[in-house]
Amino acid sequence: MDNTGTGPTGPVERTEVLTVSDVEHDASAIERAAAMLRAGQLVAFPTETVYGLGADATNPTAVARIFAAKQRPLSDPLIVHLDDPAALTQVVESVPEVARTLARRFWPGPLTLVLRRGAAIPSLVTAGGDTVGVRVPAHPVARALIRAAGVPVAAPSANRFMHTSPTTAGHVLADLDGRIACVLDGGPCAVGVESTVLDLTVDPPVLLRPGGVALEQLRGVLPAVLLAPQRASGGPTNGDQAGRGPARAPGQLERHYAPRARLELVDGVGPAAVTALVALTQAAVARAERVGALVPDDEVAALAAAGAHVVALGPADNLTEIARRLYAGLRTLDLAGVDCIVCHTFGEAGLGLALRDRLLRAAAGHPRPATP
Ligand code: TXA
Ligand code: MG
Repeated sequence: MDNTGTGPTGPVERTEVLTVSDVEHDASAIERAAAMLRAGQLVAFPTETVYGLGADATNPTAVARIFAAKQRPLSDPLIVHLDDPAALTQVVESVPEVARTLARRFWPGPLTLVLRRGAAIPSLVTAGGDTVGVRVPAHPVARALIRAAGVPVAAPSANRFMHTSPTTAGHVLADLDGRIACVLDGGPCAVGVESTVLDLTVDPPVLLRPGGVALEQLRGVLPAVLLAPQRASGGPTNGDQAGRGPARAPGQLERHYAPRARLELVDGVGPAAVTALVALTQAAVARAERVGALVPDDEVAALAAAGAHVVALGPADNLTEIARRLYAGLRTLDLAGVDCIVCHTFGEAGLGLALRDRLLRAAAGHPRPATP
């Protein structure tokens, strides 16, 4: 925490928390936060995916504060948030027909489209690149804030760099209290994992980050969508179409979304995965480590019996609920002071692809196979 009054983000003394349960009823809180954005300050706000850390995207000084507050390298581009799809023309060079089609189908919602950057967006937002990621969030508080601010809002997830993304205002404060002007508290996020990032500057379009809109949904509209090579698991998603090459998303570092505790990830589902988690737990307990387990409801008993402190993720077949609870679960286990967290992936269908991506990165990319 930085309460000195001369922190890296400017003379912030404390972070104001404004609760917004209803955008009309709490219009004065939204207006207050919007005025802070217009003044170049940082405001964290709820979106349907995770909390974002917002700044006026047209103001380079404000945008620089995001990187300072998060301790994020300038090489990692930010997503620009709009309140209305019609505003897209203001932030990109041109709007291709494919973008219009996807926006009609998925906006407002958890889909970020990468397009050619427009002149209104400073290059600091895009890490010096000539493309910009844009989305219209579905959360009413996010849209009301952007509308009231009257500017496009650049916003990464509101966590310290490389840490787990926040899905409550409390998570935001845990990482950024005293470093930002304000957080709008709109309750827990409904989706729980970040937006899907789709690059439309290449043909065919490439999915750079799986997220709240599933690959299957995208392919329902655009059958040609490819999974970025660094995202492919060797599974069935791309066939052999994806070539090799440098990552197109500079921010897609291998270690990301990480809890403090070591994450021991088993890549698989079903009885073999549970058996592997129990074995990992027993081995860690034998080394006198405190173990946390993040598992679906029907696996709780087995992991508790093995000696783990367990956080339940909900029914195994409900990936929506699992995604909603995942990041909060990682933070809960960190707060409980465990040395390691055991967890498995949830397949690659639907939200399973995004869950697997985040868990692999949180575990720094070294999962164990579910079978010996
Ligand atoms: O759901 C979300 O997307 C949340 C909420 C707040 O909207 N935001 C979010 O932002 O997750 P952030 O900065 O934590 O992650 C954005 C990702 C980064 O991995 C970045 O590399 C990628 O999007 N990205 C942004 N602009 C890009 C661009 N022009 N080209 C390629 N990738 C880009
Ligand atoms: Mg992030």
